[in-house]
Amino acid sequence: MCGIIGYLGKNDALPILIDGLKRLEYRGYDSSGFAIQHDDKITVIKAVGKIKELENKLIGKTINGKMGIAHTRWATHGKPSEANAHPHTDCKGDIWLVHNGIIENYQILKKRLEARGHIFKSETDTEVIAHLIEDLYNGSLAKTLQEVLKLLKGAYGLAVFHNNEPDKIIAARYGSPLLIGLGSDEIIIASDVSAIIRHTKQVIYLDDREMAEINGKGLKIFNSELQEINKTAQKIEWDVEQAEKQGFSHFMLKEIFEQPEAVINSTRGRFIVSDGKAKFGGLENVVDKMCQIKKLIIISCGTSYYAGLIAKNMFEEYAEMPVQVDYASEFRYRKTILDDETAIIALSQSGETADTLAAVKEAKGRGALTLGIVNVVGSSIARETDAGVYNHIGPEISVASTKSFISQLAIMALLSVFFGRKRNMSLVMGKRIIDELQALPDKIQKILRLNNEIKSIAKKYYKVNNFAYLGRKYNLPVSLEGALKLKEISYIHAEGFPAGEMKHGPIALIDENFSNMFIAPLDSVYEKNLSNMEEIKSRGGRIIAIATQGDNKIKHVADDVIYMPKTLEMLTPILSVVPLQLFAYHVAVLNGRDVDKPRNLAKSVTVE
Ligand code: M6R
Repeated sequence: MCGIIGYLGKNDALPILIDGLKRLEYRGYDSSGFAIQHDDKITVIKAVGKIKELENKLIGKTINGKMGIAHTRWATHGKPSEANAHPHTDCKGDIWLVHNGIIENYQILKKRLEARGHIFKSETDTEVIAHLIEDLYNGSLAKTLQEVLKLLKGAYGLAVFHNNEPDKIIAARYGSPLLIGLGSDEIIIASDVSAIIRHTKQVIYLDDREMAEINGKGLKIFNSELQEINKTAQKIEWDVEQAEKQGFSHFMLKEIFEQPEAVINSTRGRFIVSDGKAKFGGLENVVDKMCQIKKLIIISCGTSYYAGLIAKNMFEEYAEMPVQVDYASEFRYRKTILDDETAIIALSQSGETADTLAAVKEAKGRGALTLGIVNVVGSSIARETDAGVYNHIGPEISVASTKSFISQLAIMALLSVFFGRKRNMSLVMGKRIIDELQALPDKIQKILRLNNEIKSIAKKYYKVNNFAYLGRKYNLPVSLEGALKLKEISYIHAEGFPAGEMKHGPIALIDENFSNMFIAPLDSVYEKNLSNMEEIKSRGGRIIAIATQGDNKIKHVADDVIYMPKTLEMLTPILSVVPLQLFAYHVAVLNGRDVDKPRNLAKSVTVE
C-alpha cells in the first residue's frame, strides 16, 4: 500500500531515491522519508505531504552516499506525521527500516519490547520490527531478520540496513510486493516497478518468505531457511505510464483486479475464527457503548450509500438491529430522531466527502455515537468520528469506486458478526460467515477470469442508450451501484430498480431497444426474479443475467448470462458487483470515454 525504494550502487543514492519516490507519488501518499548511509554516518530526512515537501528540506544540503532506503507512506497506524513517516529505527539509531503492509500483532510485541526497556518514537506498527532486530541482533542482520520475521503476524515488504554492516541492505517479503531491479553496477529494491523503470528493466520478483541481501558484491536471494536460491531476472516490457498502472490500461481496471486483495486486507486480523467472532482494534474504546446500541444510522453518498443499503440487510438479518440508511446530503437537513442508544456509521472511501462530514458533525452535536468506516487514514471523517475502522485497501485513484465498495461490504459483514454475536447469532452462524468471507478472494478471482467473456458481452450492448438494472433484497443496492457505474463512466442512461417495482410503472419503458441487467443469484428471491425476467422478456426487452454457477434455468430467459460462484446470500453483493464493474468498464472503453476521469466528476466531493 505504501511505496518502497532502496539503492546500492555506483551512483549517489539520493537522486535515485527521490526520483523513485516521485514515480510512486501518483498514488497520492501522505508523507515520505529516506535514510542514506555515507562516511560512517546516516542522514535521515522525513516530511509530511508531497515529495515536494521532502525536496524543499534538501535545498542547500549535499548528501552523498551510495546506499539508502526511502518510503512514501499511506498511513495505516498513526496519523501522517514526521514521527510516523518511514524509515523507522531502533533505540540507538543503528537500524533503519522501511516497511509496507501491516503487522497485526504489533501491540503485543510493542508491550513486550517496552517492558525490556525499548523506547518507541512513533505510533506505527512498523517500528516494532526495528526494535526486534535491535533486541535479537546476533552480528548478522540477515540471520537476525530471519528470526524476527518468525515473530511477525501480518504482511510485510521491507528493506533494512544496520550501521554495523555497512554497504548492505536486506529486503524481505510476505504478502506485500517487493522486487529487485538489476542495473549495471547498481541494484534497486522497490515495491512497484514504476519506481525503477527509468533505471533498469531487468527485475527479480521476490516471492513470499524470500529474503534478498544486496551488498557491494551483488545480490543473493534466500528462502525462509536462509538457503541461497537462484532466481532469473525478467524483462519489463512496460513504459512508465503502463508501469504506474501495473500493465492495466486504466486505474479502474487495476483496482477491479485488486479486489481479492482488498477483501484480504480489509479483514486481516479482524477474525476470531474459533469463536466465530470479529474484532476491530479501532472500536475497542467504544465497545461498551456499542453494546448499548439499539439502532444504527448509516450515512454516506454515492457508491458508499449503496454499500450502506446492503449493510442494512446484513444487520437486520444477522444482528437483529434496526438500521436506517440515509443520504448524507439529506440526513444533515432532516430532524432524524437520535438518542444515546443510536450509533451513526459514516461510510466514506475518501473520508473527505463534505455532506458525510457535515452529517457526522450534526449527529455528534446531537449526542449520537459516531463511527467511521474510512479508507484514508487521518482524513476529516476519520478525525471527526468517535471511533472507526479503516479499509486498508491502499489508494483508490479512479473516480469510479470499485475496491472501496467491496471492502466496505466485507467490513460491514464482519461488523454484523460483531454485533450479531453479542446478540442472538449462534457460534455456527458466526463461523459460517467468517468461513465464507475467507473464501471470497478466490471466488472474486474466478469472476475476474471472465473478463474477456464480459468484454464480448459489452461489445453486443455498448451502443444501447437505456439500461435498467434490476435486483431484489441484497442485490437491489447492487443493481443501483451497477447502474451508477455504467452511467458515470460511459454516460449511458442507466437506472436501478427493485425488480418487483417494474410492474408499478417502469415496465412501460420496455421494448426491444431497452436493455436489462438482472442480478439474480440462487438466493431466497430467485424465483421472484425469474418471474420478473419473464415479464420483461415477453415485452421484447433484452436481458443480461448475473447468475449462480450451475443455474441452467436462467439461460432460457436471459440473452446473456454471466456466472458467479455460490456464496452466502448476504455476501452475494461482493461477487455480483464484479461483473457489473467490468461490464461498465468495457462499455465505457468501447465508447471511447475517459474511464478514470469521467466528465463533470471528482474523486473526492468536498463541496456541498
Ligand atoms: O469518498 P466517499 O466514499 O465518501 O465518496 C462518496 C461518493 O462520492 C462516491 O462513492 C462516488 O459515488 C463514487 N466515486 C462513484 O463511483
